[in-house]
Amino acid sequence: MRIILLGAPGAGKGTQAQFLMQKYGIPQISTGDMLRAAIKAGTELGLAAKQVIDAGNLVSDDIIIGLVKERIAQDDCAKGFLLDGFPRTIPQADAMVENGVDIDAVLEFDVADEVIVERMSGRRQHPASGRVYHVVYNPPKVEGKDDETGEDLVTREDDKPETVRKRLGVYHEQTAPLINYYSAMAEKGQTKYFKLDGTQPVEQVSAKLAELLG
Ligand code: AP5
Ligand code: ZN
Repeated sequence: MRIILLGAPGAGKGTQAQFLMQKYGIPQISTGDMLRAAIKAGTELGLAAKQVIDAGNLVSDDIIIGLVKERIAQDDCAKGFLLDGFPRTIPQADAMVENGVDIDAVLEFDVADEVIVERMSGRRQHPASGRVYHVVYNPPKVEGKDDETGEDLVTREDDKPETVRKRLGVYHEQTAPLINYYSAMAEKGQTKYFKLDGTQPVEQVSAKLAELLG
């Protein structure tokens, strides 16, 4: 099963990717997590991406398309994958079509901008696994520690309110056009398109996803 998780920053893509990964046994491909890992490792890609990400802008299509093509060619992606945070421009979506990568379902998470700014201020992440928490809505068992490893949780550089607002602007301008793009593909029977209410509690969103995907 090949799935795209589409939605604004903070809509809950990473949170539900953890659920879907366990339920369907397919890997999460988060371009954001891949870029943050590159920054942490101090690679050439990381050095180039850091300023762009911290400013809330998008990394260039060429770099991102290259990363994803390389990742989905790996063995563990043979039975499917979850794309989280990719594609987020029309050229990125076109690149998948040009490479013959068919998508079974596109899941759009609908959440209003005001809700997002509040969510991001409480987000904590475990960088190594990509597990995401929220100090109020999805707290870890022990404050500041990952449930499975006990390692420290971190706050993302780009979660400052002013950067979140910038990222939301970029989403509406460059990524939201993908809603029509994939809806049109679904009308032609080339994929399935589902819009979900992302403001429901985490477990209810998960239950809805399981119902839609079967
Ligand atoms: P990326 O890491 O992809 O960030 P994003 O898309 O902005 O999304 P987030 O990770 O912020 O949100 P999410 O939807 O995963 O929400 P989460 O589940 O964490 O990208 C970062 C940057 O990298 C980009 O700005 C760009 O620069 C670059 N980049 C990445 N991909 C790129 C690409 N393809 N092209 C170009 N550049 C790219 O949830 C958020 C919070 O809410 C958490 O605290 C969570 O616990 C909480 N929460 C989740 N669900 C609920 C719920 N139902 N109720 C209450 N709280 C909830
Ligand atoms: Zn995420």
